[in-house]
Order: sequence, then structure tokens, then C-alpha cells
Amino acid sequence: MFTPPFILSIAGGGSTYTPGIVKSLMVRLQDFPLAEIRLYDIDEARQNTIAPVVEKVIRDHSQSIKFTVTGDPEVAFSGAHFVFAQMRVGQYKMREQDEKIPLRHGVVGQETCGPGGLAYGLRTILPMVELIDLVDRYAHEKAWIVNYSNPAAIVAEGVRRLRPNARVLNICDMPVAAMRNMGAILGVDRRKLEVDYFGLNHFGWFTRVLVDGEDKLPELRKHIAKFGLLTEDAAKTDPQHSDPSWVKTWRNIKPIMDNFPEYLPNPYLQYYLMPNQIVEHQNPDYTRANEVMNGREKKLFAAAEEYKRTGILPDAFHVGVHGEFIVDVACSLAFNQRQRHLVMVENRGAITNLPYDAVVEVPAYITSEGPEPIRVGQVPLFHQTLLQQQLASEQLLVEATIEGSYEKALQAFTLNRTVPTMEHAKAILDEMIEANRDYWPALQKAWQDGE
Ligand code: G6P
Ligand code: MN
Repeated sequence: MFTPPFILSIAGGGSTYTPGIVKSLMVRLQDFPLAEIRLYDIDEARQNTIAPVVEKVIRDHSQSIKFTVTGDPEVAFSGAHFVFAQMRVGQYKMREQDEKIPLRHGVVGQETCGPGGLAYGLRTILPMVELIDLVDRYAHEKAWIVNYSNPAAIVAEGVRRLRPNARVLNICDMPVAAMRNMGAILGVDRRKLEVDYFGLNHFGWFTRVLVDGEDKLPELRKHIAKFGLLTEDAAKTDPQHSDPSWVKTWRNIKPIMDNFPEYLPNPYLQYYLMPNQIVEHQNPDYTRANEVMNGREKKLFAAAEEYKRTGILPDAFHVGVHGEFIVDVACSLAFNQRQRHLVMVENRGAITNLPYDAVVEVPAYITSEGPEPIRVGQVPLFHQTLLQQQLASEQLLVEATIEGSYEKALQAFTLNRTVPTMEHAKAILDEMIEANRDYWPALQKAWQDGE
């Protein structure tokens, strides 16, 4: 453990999430004291646009915290105690491709699920490893990287294979977002909930939702049968994920639980269990990437512009579970608090009927030496089988990335539940190789050589 105040670097400093995360840090300075915040991004122009907004958020709370904005990894990471990683390789422009290419073939087009997620994984694994190496070179030897970078399941598996000893904790805000909604429905603060959960990232199930030791899943089931995982007034539940597409996602918990009422699914299971419905309702010319570029991103850039002109910062970003969660996790790592959170960990027998070395998402106690997962035991055959197939698809994708293997990439695409046939897999992959030529040189070469 190291002594506060800490030096914290944010990798992917130009993200639309940065101001919200920094705001969360500012309201928790008592719990997580900071000497310096550094923003690091390879897109310095973008980062420079957002930095004044971030600086204003800091100065509203503290005059003493040093603020550094840089594209130089040595400046960014030297002596850092924590690195929050949130890189988006290819930015929203490539997310748009990830979503639109599969859709043209009648297949789910999504940031982290299906072919889009696999493509994003192929872009992100190696840059993530580069980041780990830079942190290893420059940062405090006990530094922790808390990683939000997507597609988290694939990134986590890539890191496990390529840098098994790295101090990286891979996290996702979806379970806490679901818990926030559960809390709103039950009328209790989400921090009062203790949940059991098993699965992979964006692919798992809540099995119990305890409040003061009592399982509230039966009460939630009744509510979900009417409204999905939203309060009757959806806007009240979910200010962060409140665009129409997110509201629909939360509502889709209902049809899934109508059929399989036992466990409460991660919302992302909609893409695997009801892909036809998802594709039918998606506009192939205007996907979530467009919604985000014209919404969250545009609003933040406009606010930055207005702030520059007038010195007044309009209300332009959201502080929600996304920021709160990463700060909670960092506190628990920093002070060995053993807070219980759902995070990604190597299985090592936590789920007895999944491979020992799979990266799973389960509850874990977060200590200063990392997560200690709870024992889940055996999961039912239905869930185990779905998980195995998804895991195999993601593991093959990681191998494809490491080996530059076209065949393994095609296997990964073919095995994914969102992809109906080998022919779909091939057509989508080949188009994606073209679209990703700046990012996947090895795979493009293998494809051209017919390997
Ligand atoms: C959730 C997920 C993230 C994902 C995000 C997408 O928060 O946990 O992994 O990146 O949703 O949200 P967006 O608003 O960009 O579609
Ligand atoms: Mn996530």
C-alpha cells in the first residue's frame, strides 16, 4: 500500500466520461486524497478540448491538486499510483463501423457484443498491452490500473494471456447500473444491496439481491413482469442511460425473464437471446454511435466551447454510477477495504463448471493486492452452455489477435451466438478487415495471403 495523497493518471483523457469521473473523484477527496490528476491521450487535440472542462471541475473543489495534460507517457505515468484506463481505439468513428457492418448483413451491430465487439477487441488488445508496459516502465511499482476499456471481457482475456502478472483490475459499470435501477424500484440505495451474480462481462445473471439479508429478487420479478428493469417513471431510474435505446434495453429484461424467470439477466443478454428483434428495431443508418456522437459528445464539445467563450460551464456531463463505481474500487484497492463488487477475475474454480483459467465476472472482495472472488459453485447447464460458447468465441478472438490468424478470427465470429452461419461470419469479417486496415495489419496480411 502507498500513502496518500495519490497521483492518478487517466488514460483516454479525451473521453466523454472524463469530466464525470473527475467530478466523482472531487466529491470523494476525503476518502481518496489526490495530489495530482494527469490526463493522457494519444489524441491530444481531443484531450485539449476537454481538459479546460476537467480543470474547472477540479478547481471548483480544490486549488491544490496539480493538473497535468499530456500526450507523453513518461510525463503521464512517472510515479503514478493509479491509472484509470478508458481507451477507445478507433474512437466513435470505428464504433460506427462495428455497428453498421454487421447490420448490413442482418446481424446485431453493437459496441461490445457480436461481430462489433469482436472487431473492437481486435483493435484494443495490443494497445492495452502497450499501455500496461508504459505504466510498468514509469509508474510506481505497486501502481494499479483500473480498466474500463471495452470490450472488457476480451481485453481482460488478452491481458491475462499476454501480461498475466500485471496489476490490472478490469471493471464494468453495467452491474452497478442494474443495481441502481433495482434500488430505485425497491426504494433503497443501491449501496444497500448485496448481490450474487455469475457470468462473463456483459453476459451474466444476478441470482440473488439481498437487502438486509432478505432476497428481494421475488419482488423485482413482479415489477419486471410489468415494466422491465425500470421504475414506472423511467426517467427517474436512469438519468445516465436514458436515451430511448437504453430505455428499451432495460425494458427487454421483461421478455427474457418472462421466459427464464429464475435469474435476472445482464441487459446485454438481449443481443444474444433476442437478436432478431434487436436487428428489426435498429436503424442501419443511424446506430448508437451516431446517437452518442450527436448527443453526449456534441453536448460536451459545445459546453467546452461555451466555457472558453464565456467562462461559464453549462451543465454538460453526467455524474453517475460510472464515476462513482471506479472511485469506490480505487478506494478499496488503496486502503485494503475489502469492499464487495462485481469485477472480472480469473475463474480459478469460483465457478466450478467453467474452465479454471476463464475470465469471469463474479462478486469479489477488493483488497490492496487485488480481487478475492467469492465461490459461486456450479451453474445450471443452460447458463453454463451459453457461457462456454461465448467464452470460446472470445478466447478464439484473442488468439486470432495474438497470432494474426484469419482462421481463428473466422472461428470466433462463427461461434458467436449473434451470427447465424459461417457465411455471415465470413462476409462480415471480410468487410471488417477492410474497414480496420489501419488497425489490423497482421490479419489483413493473413487474409490477403489466403492463410
Ligand atoms: C454501459 C456499459 C459500457 C458501455 C456503455 C455504452 O455503461 O457497461 O461497457 O460502453 O454502456 O454506453 P453508450 O451510452 O456509449 O452507448
Ligand atoms: Mn461495460
